[in-house]
Amino acid sequence: MADFVGAVDQGTTSTRFMIFDHGGNEVGRHQLEHQQILPRAGWVEHNPLEIWERTQTVIQTAMNAQGLAASDLAALGITNQRETTVVWNRRTGRPYYNAIVWQDTRTDRIASALERDGRGDVIRRKAGLPPATYFSGGKIQWILENVDGVREAAERGEAVFGNTDTWLLWNLTGGTEGGVHVTDPTNASRTMLMNLETLDWDDELLSFFGIPRAMLPQIRPSSDPRSYGSTAPHGPFTGPVPLTGDLGDQQAATVGQVCFAPGEAKNTYGTGNFMLLNTGTEIVRSKAGLLTTVCYQFGDDAPVYALEGSIAVTGSAVQWLRDQLKIISSAAQSEILARQVEDNGGVYFVPAFSGLFAPYWRSDARGAIVGLSRFNTDAHIARATLESICYQSRDVAEAMEQDSGVHLECLKVDGGVTVNDLCMQMQADILGVPVSRPVVAETTALGAAYAAGLAVGFWKNTDELRENWNESRRWQPQWAAEQRENGYARWKKAVQRTLDWVD
Ligand code: G3P
Repeated sequence: MADFVGAVDQGTTSTRFMIFDHGGNEVGRHQLEHQQILPRAGWVEHNPLEIWERTQTVIQTAMNAQGLAASDLAALGITNQRETTVVWNRRTGRPYYNAIVWQDTRTDRIASALERDGRGDVIRRKAGLPPATYFSGGKIQWILENVDGVREAAERGEAVFGNTDTWLLWNLTGGTEGGVHVTDPTNASRTMLMNLETLDWDDELLSFFGIPRAMLPQIRPSSDPRSYGSTAPHGPFTGPVPLTGDLGDQQAATVGQVCFAPGEAKNTYGTGNFMLLNTGTEIVRSKAGLLTTVCYQFGDDAPVYALEGSIAVTGSAVQWLRDQLKIISSAAQSEILARQVEDNGGVYFVPAFSGLFAPYWRSDARGAIVGLSRFNTDAHIARATLESICYQSRDVAEAMEQDSGVHLECLKVDGGVTVNDLCMQMQADILGVPVSRPVVAETTALGAAYAAGLAVGFWKNTDELRENWNESRRWQPQWAAEQRENGYARWKKAVQRTLDWVD
């Protein structure tokens, strides 16, 4: 068998290709950013053709740098930013419109209309999601209603939908020359269109959005020994690699962090934060504002579910300090600036730029910096920004405990912000539990590689994957309980201000 497994990680800001060996060690990688298209306030788009082009480049560059050929890869996995919606013509391969990104709020009217007449409760019960702009269903409806000719083409089965996993799988397997149109249940569970119990598209849910079934991909296991297809010879691998793994990026990180037992959780710190708790084969309905989602489905095994706390703005709040406030020149500087002061000086920052996601689900919330006095400096703002990442994660952890009764003993973390030592120490202090980061911090790509490799027997089972997980760093809580609870009470007051803001 070939020595390596490859993984494409198509994220919100960039696309990377990584190659792993049997020990889960990184062998090679390449990564490229793509353009964030912001046509108006609240709208966020990507160019799907640019994403496909970047994907080909990162694959070719990483493979060439290591001198590898398609035959060196036992399998290929895909992982992706979830919910982001692409609709394209399967005959020409041309997208009808830019990809509408998960952060985009143009569908707020569609989402709030669902809430008014009881359809919201059906979506909660069947799909495990609150109606929100975040998910794909409303975005597909918007394209069907606003782009000429798409509805007719969709009814003929010519205009097809996919998240970026599906878009790349279709292109990698040949595109207009026989590309496969598939997705997996973790991605499908973010559309408001899939029934969590049957793992199939649900006709009643489709009718809420007026979406023809013919435009939807086939839902296949996240790790599929039957293979979705092989990479096409005219594509970036110039030869066949079996495509056998597909997971939404947050579920992939959960797999990469080997959270295979009920009660195990991870928190990924990217543009947003996403905490997932494995709930096993049980579908746990949230009463505390979390999402119920599919964690993974491996082959013919029963699907495993998760509770998820999604936070829209965490790492992107640090970018805001850099790009809009211009008080730092790089993300790394946020740590240096925040370290200039001992504490937040009474300042709390709630970065509700896209409203608030879990556990509040208030698209009308707007950001606030509260508690300012003349004493405060940019260092306090930087500190409050890093704390906001951790306080939002505490909100989610509290909701998880309420929903599941599971009290976290330790939080496994990954993602870009986890290089910020101060922020991770704050996280341990604010949660009151240790925080642990693995050696391989690229858990998202690793999880997709694991899904693909399990399907072809490159890895025998999940026990073998557990052996690959090693801790690189652990942060212990240092705050006294009183400091922790006082800080959290202030945070909750600050959040309340952002909810009260709009009439
Ligand atoms: O649900 C959105 C999430 O999948 C995006 O993740 O890491 O691409 O920002 P990321």
